Amino acid sequence: MIRINLENALLKEDVSVLKEEVLDANKTLLSKTGEGNDFLGWQELPRDYDKEEFARIKEAAKKIRSNSDVLIAIGIGGSYLGAKAVIDALSNSYEKPEVEVLFAGHHLSSTDTQELLDYLDGKDFSINVISKSGTTTEPAVAFRIFKDKLEEKYGVEGAKERIFATTDKERGALKTLSTNMGYETFVVPDNVGGRFSVLTAVGLLPIAVAGFDIDELMAGARDGMDTYPETPFEDNAAFQYVAARNLMYRNGKKMEILVNYEPKLKNVSEWWKQLYGESEGKDGKGLFPVSVGFTTDLHSLGQMIQDGEKIFFETVLRVNEPKKDIELKSDDLDLDGLNYLVGKTMDYVNQTALKATVEAHVSGQVPNIILDMEKIDERNLGRLIYFYEYAVALSGYIIGVNPFNQPGVEEYKKNMFRLLEKPGY
Ligand code: PA5
Repeated sequence: MIRINLENALLKEDVSVLKEEVLDANKTLLSKTGEGNDFLGWQELPRDYDKEEFARIKEAAKKIRSNSDVLIAIGIGGSYLGAKAVIDALSNSYEKPEVEVLFAGHHLSSTDTQELLDYLDGKDFSINVISKSGTTTEPAVAFRIFKDKLEEKYGVEGAKERIFATTDKERGALKTLSTNMGYETFVVPDNVGGRFSVLTAVGLLPIAVAGFDIDELMAGARDGMDTYPETPFEDNAAFQYVAARNLMYRNGKKMEILVNYEPKLKNVSEWWKQLYGESEGKDGKGLFPVSVGFTTDLHSLGQMIQDGEKIFFETVLRVNEPKKDIELKSDDLDLDGLNYLVGKTMDYVNQTALKATVEAHVSGQVPNIILDMEKIDERNLGRLIYFYEYAVALSGYIIGVNPFNQPGVEEYKKNMFRLLEKPGY
Protein backbone atom coordinates (compact mmCIF):
# COMPACT_ATOMS: atom_id res chain seq x y z
CA MET A 1 0.00 0.00 0.00
CA ILE A 2 1.01 3.64 -0.22
CA ARG A 3 2.90 4.83 2.84
CA ILE A 4 3.48 8.43 3.85
CA ASN A 5 6.36 10.11 5.60
CA LEU A 6 5.88 13.62 6.96
CA GLU A 7 9.23 13.99 8.73
CA ASN A 8 10.36 16.57 6.19
CA ALA A 9 7.05 18.37 5.77
CA LEU A 10 8.11 21.30 7.97
CA LEU A 11 4.61 21.47 9.45
CA LYS A 12 4.21 24.06 12.18
CA GLU A 13 1.40 22.01 13.68
CA ASP A 14 0.81 18.28 13.78
CA VAL A 15 -1.49 16.98 11.02
CA SER A 16 -3.84 15.84 13.77
CA VAL A 17 -5.13 19.44 14.01
CA LEU A 18 -7.07 18.65 10.83
CA LYS A 19 -8.16 15.20 12.01
CA GLU A 20 -11.76 16.20 12.72
CA GLU A 21 -12.10 18.01 9.40
CA VAL A 22 -10.72 15.04 7.50
CA LEU A 23 -13.01 12.62 9.34
CA ASP A 24 -15.99 14.89 8.66
CA ALA A 25 -15.11 15.03 4.97
CA ASN A 26 -14.80 11.24 5.02
CA LYS A 27 -18.24 10.95 6.59
CA THR A 28 -19.68 13.28 3.96
CA LEU A 29 -18.10 11.22 1.20
CA LEU A 30 -19.21 7.86 2.59
CA SER A 31 -22.75 9.03 3.33
CA LYS A 32 -22.91 10.55 -0.16
CA THR A 33 -24.28 13.80 1.18
CA GLY A 34 -21.66 16.21 -0.17
CA GLU A 35 -21.64 18.36 -3.29
CA GLY A 36 -21.31 16.38 -6.48
CA ASN A 37 -22.64 13.23 -4.84
CA ASP A 38 -24.12 12.06 -8.13
CA PHE A 39 -20.51 11.51 -9.31
CA LEU A 40 -19.36 9.01 -6.70
CA GLY A 41 -19.42 5.93 -8.91
CA TRP A 42 -15.59 5.74 -8.84
CA GLN A 43 -15.70 5.05 -5.11
CA GLU A 44 -17.10 1.53 -5.25
CA LEU A 45 -15.99 0.77 -8.79
CA PRO A 46 -13.19 -1.65 -7.78
CA ARG A 47 -15.89 -3.90 -6.28
CA ASP A 48 -19.02 -3.03 -8.23
CA TYR A 49 -17.70 -2.69 -11.76
CA ASP A 50 -19.78 -4.23 -14.53
CA LYS A 51 -18.38 -7.79 -14.76
CA GLU A 52 -20.10 -8.55 -18.04
CA GLU A 53 -18.60 -5.47 -19.66
CA PHE A 54 -15.22 -6.25 -18.12
CA ALA A 55 -15.28 -9.63 -19.90
CA ARG A 56 -16.24 -7.87 -23.15
CA ILE A 57 -13.30 -5.48 -22.72
CA LYS A 58 -10.95 -8.47 -22.50
CA GLU A 59 -12.53 -10.04 -25.59
CA ALA A 60 -12.25 -6.81 -27.56
CA ALA A 61 -8.63 -6.42 -26.46
CA LYS A 62 -7.91 -9.98 -27.62
CA LYS A 63 -9.49 -9.28 -30.99
CA ILE A 64 -7.55 -6.02 -31.43
CA ARG A 65 -4.31 -7.73 -30.42
CA SER A 66 -4.95 -10.46 -32.98
CA ASN A 67 -5.67 -8.20 -35.96
CA SER A 68 -3.86 -4.89 -35.32
CA ASP A 69 -0.32 -3.56 -35.05
CA VAL A 70 -1.61 -0.32 -33.58
CA LEU A 71 -4.60 0.84 -31.57
CA ILE A 72 -5.38 4.53 -31.95
CA ALA A 73 -6.98 5.62 -28.68
CA ILE A 74 -8.80 8.89 -29.32
CA GLY A 75 -9.73 11.01 -26.31
CA ILE A 76 -8.77 14.05 -24.25
CA GLY A 77 -8.43 14.89 -20.55
CA GLY A 78 -9.89 12.16 -18.40
CA SER A 79 -10.61 10.17 -21.54
CA TYR A 80 -6.92 9.51 -22.21
CA LEU A 81 -4.63 10.54 -19.35
CA GLY A 82 -5.28 7.51 -17.13
CA ALA A 83 -4.65 4.95 -19.87
CA LYS A 84 -1.53 6.82 -21.00
CA ALA A 85 -0.25 6.97 -17.40
CA VAL A 86 -0.70 3.25 -16.75
CA ILE A 87 0.58 2.08 -20.13
CA ASP A 88 3.71 4.24 -19.96
CA ALA A 89 4.41 3.23 -16.38
CA LEU A 90 4.21 -0.47 -17.23
CA SER A 91 5.87 -0.47 -20.66
CA ASN A 92 9.48 -1.04 -21.53
CA SER A 93 10.44 2.43 -22.78
CA TYR A 94 12.69 1.18 -25.58
CA GLU A 95 11.12 -2.06 -26.75
CA LYS A 96 8.53 -1.92 -29.51
CA PRO A 97 5.43 -3.63 -28.08
CA GLU A 98 3.54 -6.35 -29.91
CA VAL A 99 0.62 -3.95 -30.26
CA GLU A 100 1.26 -0.23 -29.92
CA VAL A 101 -1.33 1.97 -28.26
CA LEU A 102 -0.96 5.48 -29.66
CA PHE A 103 -3.05 8.44 -28.59
CA ALA A 104 -4.81 11.02 -30.74
CA GLY A 105 -7.56 13.58 -30.23
CA HIS A 106 -5.92 15.15 -27.19
CA HIS A 107 -4.82 18.26 -29.12
CA LEU A 108 -5.62 20.06 -32.36
CA SER A 109 -2.20 19.88 -33.98
CA SER A 110 -2.50 19.10 -37.69
CA THR A 111 1.21 18.31 -37.88
CA ASP A 112 1.09 15.70 -35.15
CA THR A 113 -2.09 14.20 -36.57
CA GLN A 114 -0.70 13.96 -40.11
CA GLU A 115 2.49 12.36 -38.81
CA LEU A 116 0.45 9.74 -37.00
CA LEU A 117 -1.66 9.12 -40.11
CA ASP A 118 1.56 8.62 -42.10
CA TYR A 119 2.91 6.28 -39.44
CA LEU A 120 -0.15 4.05 -39.95
CA ASP A 121 0.65 3.48 -43.64
CA GLY A 122 1.17 -0.22 -44.20
CA LYS A 123 0.08 -1.13 -40.68
CA ASP A 124 -3.05 -2.85 -39.47
CA PHE A 125 -4.89 -0.74 -36.96
CA SER A 126 -8.07 -0.30 -34.94
CA ILE A 127 -9.61 2.71 -33.21
CA ASN A 128 -10.96 3.18 -29.71
CA VAL A 129 -12.77 6.52 -29.64
CA ILE A 130 -13.40 7.64 -26.07
CA SER A 131 -15.62 10.53 -25.04
CA LYS A 132 -18.03 10.53 -22.13
CA SER A 133 -19.99 13.48 -23.46
CA GLY A 134 -19.55 12.30 -27.02
CA THR A 135 -19.37 15.91 -28.14
CA THR A 136 -15.83 17.08 -27.33
CA THR A 137 -14.30 18.82 -30.33
CA GLU A 138 -10.72 17.50 -30.20
CA PRO A 139 -11.59 13.77 -30.22
CA ALA A 140 -14.50 14.36 -32.62
CA VAL A 141 -12.18 16.01 -35.17
CA ALA A 142 -9.56 13.27 -34.76
CA PHE A 143 -12.16 10.50 -35.02
CA ARG A 144 -13.47 11.88 -38.29
CA ILE A 145 -9.92 11.90 -39.71
CA PHE A 146 -8.83 8.45 -38.46
CA LYS A 147 -12.18 6.85 -39.32
CA ASP A 148 -11.68 8.01 -42.94
CA LYS A 149 -8.25 6.41 -42.99
CA LEU A 150 -9.66 3.18 -41.55
CA GLU A 151 -12.54 3.09 -44.05
CA GLU A 152 -10.12 3.77 -46.91
CA LYS A 153 -8.07 0.76 -45.85
CA TYR A 154 -10.76 -1.75 -44.86
CA GLY A 155 -13.95 -0.39 -46.46
CA VAL A 156 -16.91 0.88 -44.44
CA GLU A 157 -17.97 -2.63 -43.36
CA GLY A 158 -14.45 -3.75 -42.50
CA ALA A 159 -13.86 -0.57 -40.51
CA LYS A 160 -16.93 -1.22 -38.37
CA GLU A 161 -15.21 -4.32 -37.02
CA ARG A 162 -12.25 -2.20 -35.95
CA ILE A 163 -13.97 0.72 -34.26
CA PHE A 164 -14.73 0.56 -30.55
CA ALA A 165 -16.53 3.48 -28.94
CA THR A 166 -16.44 4.25 -25.21
CA THR A 167 -19.11 6.78 -24.32
CA ASP A 168 -22.31 7.52 -22.44
CA LYS A 169 -24.78 4.64 -22.39
CA GLU A 170 -27.48 6.61 -24.21
CA ARG A 171 -26.64 10.26 -24.92
CA GLY A 172 -24.32 12.23 -27.18
CA ALA A 173 -23.27 12.38 -30.82
CA LEU A 174 -20.77 9.52 -30.45
CA LYS A 175 -23.43 7.22 -29.02
CA THR A 176 -25.82 8.06 -31.87
CA LEU A 177 -23.11 7.56 -34.47
CA SER A 178 -22.06 4.24 -32.91
CA THR A 179 -25.61 2.94 -32.79
CA ASN A 180 -26.23 3.94 -36.41
CA MET A 181 -22.98 2.41 -37.62
CA GLY A 182 -23.12 -0.68 -35.42
CA TYR A 183 -19.79 -0.14 -33.59
CA GLU A 184 -19.15 -2.10 -30.43
CA THR A 185 -19.63 0.26 -27.51
CA PHE A 186 -18.47 0.45 -23.91
CA VAL A 187 -19.96 2.63 -21.24
CA VAL A 188 -18.64 5.50 -19.16
CA PRO A 189 -21.03 5.23 -16.21
CA ASP A 190 -23.18 8.32 -15.54
CA ASN A 191 -21.84 8.62 -12.02
CA VAL A 192 -18.13 8.54 -12.92
CA GLY A 193 -16.54 11.82 -14.05
CA GLY A 194 -13.90 11.88 -16.79
CA ARG A 195 -10.88 12.32 -14.52
CA PHE A 196 -12.08 9.47 -12.26
CA SER A 197 -12.72 7.09 -15.16
CA VAL A 198 -9.41 5.25 -15.64
CA LEU A 199 -10.83 2.10 -14.03
CA THR A 200 -13.81 2.00 -16.41
CA ALA A 201 -13.64 0.96 -20.07
CA VAL A 202 -12.12 4.41 -20.71
CA GLY A 203 -8.78 3.24 -19.34
CA LEU A 204 -9.22 -0.50 -19.23
CA LEU A 205 -9.62 -1.22 -22.95
CA PRO A 206 -6.43 0.59 -24.08
CA ILE A 207 -4.54 -0.84 -21.09
CA ALA A 208 -5.68 -4.38 -21.91
CA VAL A 209 -4.80 -3.88 -25.58
CA ALA A 210 -1.31 -2.85 -24.48
CA GLY A 211 -1.08 -6.31 -22.88
CA PHE A 212 -1.37 -5.41 -19.20
CA ASP A 213 -3.29 -7.23 -16.50
CA ILE A 214 -6.49 -5.30 -15.80
CA ASP A 215 -7.58 -7.82 -13.16
CA GLU A 216 -4.52 -6.93 -11.09
CA LEU A 217 -5.10 -3.22 -11.66
CA MET A 218 -8.64 -3.53 -10.33
CA ALA A 219 -7.42 -5.71 -7.45
CA GLY A 220 -4.97 -2.97 -6.47
CA ALA A 221 -7.73 -0.38 -6.52
CA ARG A 222 -9.82 -2.77 -4.43
CA ASP A 223 -6.99 -2.87 -1.87
CA GLY A 224 -7.31 0.92 -1.72
CA MET A 225 -11.07 0.79 -1.43
CA ASP A 226 -10.78 -1.68 1.45
CA THR A 227 -8.21 0.50 3.20
CA TYR A 228 -8.72 4.26 2.98
CA PRO A 229 -12.35 4.76 4.00
CA GLU A 230 -12.00 2.85 7.29
CA THR A 231 -8.38 3.00 8.50
CA PRO A 232 -7.89 5.24 11.57
CA PHE A 233 -6.44 8.69 10.88
CA GLU A 234 -3.07 7.93 12.45
CA ASP A 235 -2.44 4.97 10.12
CA ASN A 236 -4.25 6.25 7.05
CA ALA A 237 -1.87 7.54 4.36
CA ALA A 238 -4.72 9.16 2.40
CA PHE A 239 -6.05 11.02 5.46
CA GLN A 240 -2.55 12.15 6.42
CA TYR A 241 -1.80 13.35 2.88
CA VAL A 242 -5.04 15.32 2.78
CA ALA A 243 -4.34 16.88 6.16
CA ALA A 244 -0.72 17.74 5.33
CA ARG A 245 -1.43 19.38 1.97
CA ASN A 246 -4.34 21.36 3.41
CA LEU A 247 -2.17 22.58 6.29
CA MET A 248 0.40 23.74 3.72
CA TYR A 249 -2.34 25.46 1.74
CA ARG A 250 -3.61 27.26 4.81
CA ASN A 251 -0.07 28.32 5.60
CA GLY A 252 0.22 30.13 2.28
CA LYS A 253 1.54 27.49 -0.10
CA LYS A 254 0.00 27.92 -3.53
CA MET A 255 1.45 25.02 -5.47
CA GLU A 256 2.10 21.34 -4.99
CA ILE A 257 4.98 19.90 -7.00
CA LEU A 258 4.70 16.17 -7.59
CA VAL A 259 8.22 14.76 -7.85
CA ASN A 260 9.26 11.42 -9.24
CA TYR A 261 12.62 9.81 -9.88
CA GLU A 262 11.36 7.38 -12.55
CA PRO A 263 10.85 8.67 -16.11
CA LYS A 264 8.14 6.02 -16.53
CA LEU A 265 5.97 7.92 -14.06
CA LYS A 266 5.90 11.15 -16.07
CA ASN A 267 2.37 10.51 -17.26
CA VAL A 268 1.19 9.41 -13.83
CA SER A 269 2.02 13.01 -12.91
CA GLU A 270 0.07 14.28 -15.93
CA TRP A 271 -2.95 12.23 -14.85
CA TRP A 272 -2.55 13.49 -11.26
CA LYS A 273 -2.39 17.11 -12.47
CA GLN A 274 -5.77 16.82 -14.15
CA LEU A 275 -7.27 14.95 -11.19
CA TYR A 276 -6.13 17.53 -8.67
CA GLY A 277 -6.34 20.65 -10.84
CA GLU A 278 -9.85 20.01 -12.11
CA SER A 279 -11.12 18.79 -8.76
CA GLU A 280 -9.81 21.63 -6.60
CA GLY A 281 -9.28 24.65 -8.82
CA LYS A 282 -12.55 26.49 -8.52
CA ASP A 283 -14.26 29.34 -6.72
CA GLY A 284 -10.89 31.13 -6.56
CA LYS A 285 -9.37 28.27 -4.53
CA GLY A 286 -7.04 25.31 -4.90
CA LEU A 287 -3.39 24.28 -4.92
CA PHE A 288 -1.89 24.56 -8.41
CA PRO A 289 -0.57 21.08 -9.30
CA VAL A 290 2.75 20.91 -11.13
CA SER A 291 5.22 18.11 -11.65
CA VAL A 292 8.90 17.48 -12.15
CA GLY A 293 11.02 14.46 -13.00
CA PHE A 294 14.24 14.25 -10.99
CA THR A 295 17.11 14.12 -11.23
CA THR A 296 16.58 15.49 -14.77
CA ASP A 297 14.75 18.63 -13.67
CA LEU A 298 17.18 19.31 -10.85
CA HIS A 299 19.33 20.61 -13.68
CA SER A 300 16.60 22.95 -14.91
CA LEU A 301 14.16 23.76 -12.13
CA GLY A 302 16.37 22.79 -9.20
CA GLN A 303 17.63 26.34 -8.77
CA MET A 304 14.09 27.76 -8.62
CA ILE A 305 12.94 25.14 -6.16
CA GLN A 306 15.97 25.58 -3.92
CA ASP A 307 16.17 29.37 -3.95
CA GLY A 308 13.03 30.81 -5.56
CA GLU A 309 9.96 32.30 -3.92
CA LYS A 310 8.60 29.75 -1.46
CA ILE A 311 5.07 29.38 -2.78
CA PHE A 312 5.19 25.60 -3.14
CA PHE A 313 5.81 22.32 -1.39
CA GLU A 314 6.93 19.03 -2.88
CA THR A 315 5.34 15.61 -2.74
CA VAL A 316 7.86 12.96 -3.66
CA LEU A 317 6.51 9.73 -5.09
CA ARG A 318 9.24 7.22 -4.21
CA VAL A 319 9.39 3.76 -5.77
CA ASN A 320 10.96 1.33 -3.31
CA GLU A 321 11.97 -1.41 -5.70
CA PRO A 322 13.15 -0.73 -9.26
CA LYS A 323 12.04 -3.08 -12.01
CA LYS A 324 15.66 -3.47 -13.04
CA ASP A 325 18.93 -2.51 -11.43
CA ILE A 326 22.50 -2.16 -12.64
CA GLU A 327 25.62 -2.82 -10.60
CA LEU A 328 28.42 -0.31 -11.10
CA LYS A 329 31.63 -2.01 -12.20
CA SER A 330 35.25 -1.16 -11.52
CA ASP A 331 37.30 0.69 -14.15
CA ASP A 332 41.08 0.20 -14.12
CA LEU A 333 41.91 3.80 -14.97
CA ASP A 334 39.13 5.36 -12.89
CA LEU A 335 39.52 8.60 -14.85
CA ASP A 336 35.91 9.55 -14.03
CA GLY A 337 36.64 8.99 -10.34
CA LEU A 338 33.63 6.73 -9.91
CA ASN A 339 35.39 3.67 -8.50
CA TYR A 340 34.18 4.63 -5.03
CA LEU A 341 30.76 3.43 -6.21
CA VAL A 342 31.93 -0.05 -7.28
CA GLY A 343 29.53 -2.70 -6.02
CA LYS A 344 26.78 -0.16 -5.50
CA THR A 345 23.84 -0.08 -7.88
CA MET A 346 22.42 2.68 -10.05
CA ASP A 347 19.19 2.59 -8.07
CA TYR A 348 21.19 3.10 -4.89
CA VAL A 349 22.62 6.27 -6.45
CA ASN A 350 19.10 7.37 -7.49
CA GLN A 351 17.73 6.77 -3.98
CA THR A 352 20.69 8.64 -2.52
CA ALA A 353 20.01 11.56 -4.87
CA LEU A 354 16.43 11.56 -3.58
CA LYS A 355 17.57 11.71 0.04
CA ALA A 356 20.12 14.40 -0.73
CA THR A 357 17.57 16.49 -2.61
CA VAL A 358 14.97 16.24 0.14
CA GLU A 359 17.64 17.36 2.61
CA ALA A 360 18.72 20.27 0.39
CA HIS A 361 15.18 21.46 -0.34
CA VAL A 362 14.16 21.18 3.29
CA SER A 363 17.18 23.28 4.25
CA GLY A 364 15.93 25.79 1.65
CA GLN A 365 12.57 25.81 3.50
CA VAL A 366 10.71 23.71 0.91
CA PRO A 367 8.47 21.22 2.73
CA ASN A 368 8.59 17.65 1.45
CA ILE A 369 5.93 15.00 1.80
CA ILE A 370 7.16 11.53 0.82
CA LEU A 371 4.81 8.91 -0.56
CA ASP A 372 6.18 5.39 -0.93
CA MET A 373 4.95 2.86 -3.44
CA GLU A 374 6.41 -0.65 -3.38
CA LYS A 375 7.09 -1.03 -7.09
CA ILE A 376 5.65 -0.21 -10.48
CA ASP A 377 3.27 -3.00 -11.43
CA GLU A 378 -0.45 -3.28 -12.09
CA ARG A 379 -1.36 -3.97 -8.48
CA ASN A 380 0.57 -1.04 -7.09
CA LEU A 381 -0.65 1.34 -9.79
CA GLY A 382 -4.24 0.35 -8.95
CA ARG A 383 -3.51 1.16 -5.31
CA LEU A 384 -1.94 4.48 -6.25
CA ILE A 385 -4.86 5.47 -8.47
CA TYR A 386 -7.37 4.80 -5.72
CA PHE A 387 -5.20 6.57 -3.14
CA TYR A 388 -5.09 9.75 -5.22
CA GLU A 389 -8.78 9.62 -6.13
CA TYR A 390 -9.86 9.11 -2.54
CA ALA A 391 -7.57 11.84 -1.25
CA VAL A 392 -8.68 14.45 -3.76
CA ALA A 393 -12.34 13.86 -2.98
CA LEU A 394 -11.68 14.52 0.72
CA SER A 395 -9.35 17.40 0.00
CA GLY A 396 -11.92 19.12 -2.23
CA TYR A 397 -14.51 18.94 0.53
CA ILE A 398 -12.01 20.38 3.02
CA ILE A 399 -11.09 23.24 0.68
CA GLY A 400 -14.82 23.87 0.32
CA VAL A 401 -15.40 23.11 -3.37
CA ASN A 402 -17.33 20.51 -5.31
CA PRO A 403 -14.50 18.12 -6.28
CA PHE A 404 -16.54 16.46 -9.01
CA ASN A 405 -17.46 19.23 -11.45
CA GLN A 406 -15.36 21.29 -13.88
CA PRO A 407 -17.39 24.33 -14.95
CA GLY A 408 -14.26 26.27 -15.90
CA VAL A 409 -13.39 23.87 -18.72
CA GLU A 410 -16.38 25.15 -20.73
CA GLU A 411 -15.15 28.75 -21.12
CA TYR A 412 -12.63 28.25 -23.93
CA LYS A 413 -15.02 25.97 -25.78
CA LYS A 414 -17.70 28.63 -26.04
CA ASN A 415 -15.22 31.14 -27.45
CA MET A 416 -13.79 28.60 -29.86
CA PHE A 417 -17.23 27.66 -31.18
CA ARG A 418 -18.11 31.34 -31.62
CA LEU A 419 -14.88 32.00 -33.51
CA LEU A 420 -15.37 28.88 -35.61
CA GLU A 421 -18.89 30.13 -36.36
CA LYS A 422 -20.58 26.99 -35.07
CA PRO A 423 -24.35 27.42 -35.50
CA GLY A 424 -25.94 28.67 -32.27
CA TYR A 425 -22.75 30.34 -30.87
O1 PA5 B 1 -12.58 15.46 -16.24
C1 PA5 B 1 -13.31 15.72 -17.17
O2 PA5 B 1 -14.52 15.47 -17.14
C2 PA5 B 1 -12.78 16.33 -18.46
O3 PA5 B 1 -11.43 16.65 -18.43
C3 PA5 B 1 -13.02 15.37 -19.59
O4 PA5 B 1 -12.36 14.17 -19.29
C4 PA5 B 1 -12.54 15.89 -20.93
O5 PA5 B 1 -13.02 17.17 -21.16
C5 PA5 B 1 -13.02 14.97 -22.04
O6 PA5 B 1 -14.40 14.89 -22.03
P1 PA5 B 1 -15.21 13.80 -22.83
O7 PA5 B 1 -14.83 12.48 -22.32
O8 PA5 B 1 -16.64 14.12 -22.57
O9 PA5 B 1 -14.85 13.96 -24.28
